[in-house]
Amino acid sequence: MNYQKVKGTQDFFNQQVLKYRYLEEVMTSLVKKFGYREIITPIFENTEVFVRGVGDETDIVKKEMYTFKDKGNRFVTLRPEGTAAVVRSFLENKMYVNTNLTKLYYFGPMFRYERPQAGRFRQFSQFGIEAFGDSSPLLDADVINSAFQIIKKLGISNIVLKINTIGDFASRQNYAKALKEYFRPQIQSFCEDCQSRLDRNPLRILDCKVDQNQPLVRQAPQINDYLTDEAKTYFSQVLGILDVLQIPYEVTPTLVRGLDYYTDTVFEFVIKSTDETNNLTLCGGGKYSDLIKSFGGPDLPGIGYAFGIERLMTILDEQDLMPDFSQNADVVIIGLDQIAKTVSLELATHLRLAGYVVEIDYRNTSMKPQFRLAETKNARFIIIIGEEELQNNTYTIKNTILKTQVSIAQSDIFKYLKENQK
Ligand code: HAM
Repeated sequence: MNYQKVKGTQDFFNQQVLKYRYLEEVMTSLVKKFGYREIITPIFENTEVFVRGVGDETDIVKKEMYTFKDKGNRFVTLRPEGTAAVVRSFLENKMYVNTNLTKLYYFGPMFRYERPQAGRFRQFSQFGIEAFGDSSPLLDADVINSAFQIIKKLGISNIVLKINTIGDFASRQNYAKALKEYFRPQIQSFCEDCQSRLDRNPLRILDCKVDQNQPLVRQAPQINDYLTDEAKTYFSQVLGILDVLQIPYEVTPTLVRGLDYYTDTVFEFVIKSTDETNNLTLCGGGKYSDLIKSFGGPDLPGIGYAFGIERLMTILDEQDLMPDFSQNADVVIIGLDQIAKTVSLELATHLRLAGYVVEIDYRNTSMKPQFRLAETKNARFIIIIGEEELQNNTYTIKNTILKTQVSIAQSDIFKYLKENQK
């Protein structure tokens, strides 16, 4: 039988794993400086968490969730995103009790039944943050700032921050009414999903994957004209702080994001392409004032974002920004008979515990293949142990950079390596 991975999934090995972990390290160490702490939630949740959290008119809930009935007849769903799950955990564990602001980050796999294509997978990883408890333009700007600093640290260029406000609850209601009036006379020319969205959630028509590029959608009323004064002031304060922080942005009135929980500030970091429809979103997020309350919790706002790791990996490769991950060895030990090989293993253990990367050839006792191993591992030092070395309690050491070969007492090995390291 020929086993193959599930469509839209990937294996990571060799360099890919190192790149994946590198990104994890860069991102997590940076947001820790902003005061975020890690949270690990389960890979699957009761389906209701995402239906309620993300919104039942969204593509994610309607078409993309991996939902199944478990043996106890409960509906569970592989998480398609992190926010709703983190909110569920925040409430269940009453994290709000002793603090006004909770700042969390997460890193891990998400699952969406999407059509696989470049940058779009069915299992992909996100790095995300969520801050619960404060409503302040300063916090919004600082959340965006942390994503901006990650992008800067990684060195990514050709990227733009698109930002918009979708207003508070009152603004959204005014806007939804205007959209309904605008779309209703022409709704027959839209896909079936949009027809059902018209009365329930007309905002979702704007980011429908089928109808997104219809002229009618592009010319639809924009949220700006329906914002309350409060929402407008809040947004201009956020932009003012971004200006002070020297974070460039493009106000994008058509940006509404594909998840229902957002209110006020929404944003995406997008890699620009010559063809606008091919722009790749690396990171998306925004504020959500009502999500926690809608889960039955206290009336607390939240804000956050998530980066797609696979997309980041592609961009870092394309822009040649990945560090060199060659897995070299510091030392290769060559043993010329079985006794020498056992001694090699003992020495390797001591050296590894002292911090050196040490490889040995488990199979061969002849010189040639063992030297080949040293070559492929780009070993800095080659230690040779043969009959003579065993008898005299010495090691023969080749320094492959200085191209020298010396014989030293076994007890001097650490001294030698230290002195010759530079
Ligand atoms: P999202 O825009 O659905 O937002 O996803 C965030 C990022 O995940 C996207 O910008 C993209 O880089 C990546 N992504 C999404 N779907 C796929 C896919 N099928 N294959 C590869 N990468 C993908 C959220 O998930 C929100 N929870 C973000 C958030 C956090 N908002 C507030 N807090």
